[in-house]
Amino acid sequence: MSDRSTEHSRRERSKTNARALTRALRYLKPQWPLMAGALAGLLLGNLAALLVPQGLRLIIDQGIAPQRLDVIAAAGAGLVGIATLKGLFNFLQSYLAEAASQNVAYELRNLIFNKITTLSFSYHDQQQTGQLMTRVTSDVELVRQFIGQAVPQLIGSFVVLVGALIFLFSMNALLAAVTLVVTPLFLGLLGFFLARVRPLFSLTQQKLAELNTVLQENLAGIRVVRAFAREPHELERYTKVNHALRDISITINRQFAITFPLLFFVVNMATLMVTLVGGLLVIRATLTVGELVAFANYLAVLIQPLFAFGFLSAFVARASVSAERVFEVIDAESEVKQKPDAIPLPPIKGDVSFRNVYFKFAGSDRWALEDVSFDVPAGSKVAIVGRTGSGKSSIINLIPRFYDPQRGQVLIDGHDVKDVTLDSLRGSIGIVLQDTVLFSGTIRDNIAYGKPDATMEEIVEAAKAAQAHDFITALPDGYNTVIGERGVGLSGGQKQRIAIARALLLQPRLIILDDSTSAVDAETEYQIQQALQAMLTRCNCTSFVVAQRLSSVRNADLILLVDDGRIVAQGTHEELLRDNALYGEILDTQFAPDLAPYEEALAA
Ligand SMILES: Nc1ncnc2c1ncn2[C@@H]1O[C@H](COP(=O)(O)OP(=O)(O)OP(=O)(O)O)[C@@H](O)[C@H]1O
Ligand SMILES: [Mg+2]
Repeated sequence: MSDRSTEHSRRERSKTNARALTRALRYLKPQWPLMAGALAGLLLGNLAALLVPQGLRLIIDQGIAPQRLDVIAAAGAGLVGIATLKGLFNFLQSYLAEAASQNVAYELRNLIFNKITTLSFSYHDQQQTGQLMTRVTSDVELVRQFIGQAVPQLIGSFVVLVGALIFLFSMNALLAAVTLVVTPLFLGLLGFFLARVRPLFSLTQQKLAELNTVLQENLAGIRVVRAFAREPHELERYTKVNHALRDISITINRQFAITFPLLFFVVNMATLMVTLVGGLLVIRATLTVGELVAFANYLAVLIQPLFAFGFLSAFVARASVSAERVFEVIDAESEVKQKPDAIPLPPIKGDVSFRNVYFKFAGSDRWALEDVSFDVPAGSKVAIVGRTGSGKSSIINLIPRFYDPQRGQVLIDGHDVKDVTLDSLRGSIGIVLQDTVLFSGTIRDNIAYGKPDATMEEIVEAAKAAQAHDFITALPDGYNTVIGERGVGLSGGQKQRIAIARALLLQPRLIILDDSTSAVDAETEYQIQQALQAMLTRCNCTSFVVAQRLSSVRNADLILLVDDGRIVAQGTHEELLRDNALYGEILDTQFAPDLAPYEEALAA
């Protein structure tokens, strides 16, 4: 029963895989002039190849036997001409098909990248980066090779097969039939080989993706790995997958190594039979020597497509798995979708309301937020306080629609965020996330990330407000200092302040800031805090801050106390301190150490 159902699901899978391949082929449509050229080159090149044995027959029967040197010379020249043409057509075919397939790969890579950048956070929560990278690189390349190499070779092989058979049967049907006797044996061997190799090919792609995942995680998390001295563990993890990948590849190669000599043996048996039967026919004078030579040559020509079918069907199996993996990403639906009739959000005042919001993460069975409601008038400084895992980040993530709530409404100035365009919504909000991401490029570029056409004055002004100007100008190249991959390193606090300047540059009426405790020293912490306070007082905007510092809650107009996905109390610092035991407990246990000594020192 279970055997039958796995067999069934295996068939279903190979069906969808085949569909993915035909779908990949549809991307060739705009490339039809290239493909038509490639196909013409293919047909003509193969036709030329099929004429070679006929030239040989002519030389032997009409030239050598009757001792006519002029025929030999003419046919020889003809053969050289044919070989030249064949080379030319082959070149045309492979060049054009390759160009067409590169265009398709380009298109697919762009489609995937576009999708990856627009998919909602919940998609990325569930995807491993290494998997996605494998899809953009290795899987697309396999699909490309299928289009640019396998398809032309399959068509070419078919043409050669049919052409060779026609020539064989038209020369001598009896001898042709003899060559076909070994066909069932040949096909049987091939089928056996394919059945064993096919599953291994899909496993290869899977293991490659796993390998990339481990690699990517290690590159991204190299500091953590070092900090916890987990290099041996990571090495073991990598080696294990690497080992599996190697073993599969070796197994595949073993199958090749066993099968192909056997196939050659079968083919040699056919040659032997042709030589025996053909020799007999020549002795009895029903076949000429030239025909026998041509026959043997066609047999050699015939082998080529048979091997190609064997090899290519294994490759097609592999490419179809890759095509499926590519289209999985292209077809992925973003959970956060812009309505077709979405309007741009007009310039906002900054009122924010949550109406009975329920939210759960994809794949989770419990609410991360339950019945959350609050009203925040424009210009308020809101601090969100709660234990870790209580739902603070979740609240903040719903405002720019990083996720959508399952029930309830999030409103900005009375507009449901689901009714406005995503660009206008996110462009109206200054966002500083928990971990700062800077891109390779200059500091200036990084600050201007959300507004690439900002003037230098605006950039400096934003940097000053974020308390970043001083340390930036102290760098040798100032605002033109290159950071990221191979540029200068910045401290956590410096990065954070650049991120704040980036948000400030947009002059948003609404700022959200997920400012969880990151491992920074007291002085850095103090600088960040200064930058935050400066930003919040200066922008005169509505702000939501996930608070980890006393100064944030003391200066807040409204504190939302979150516990287990619910808002359990709202009010000012004094009110909550007076009325709520949980609040006091959180201040004592979860908040960063008081920085008052620093504040006093700096005030003096
Ligand atoms: N991507 C996710 N997928 C599934 N569940 C998640 C995801 N992110 C968070 N959760 C769960 O949802 C709940 C709320 O998470 P949230 O990130 O909002 O907490 P938080 O209050 O911001 O915590 P912290 O102070 O640690 O940042 C937690 O129980 C958490 O385990
Ligand atoms: Mg959080």
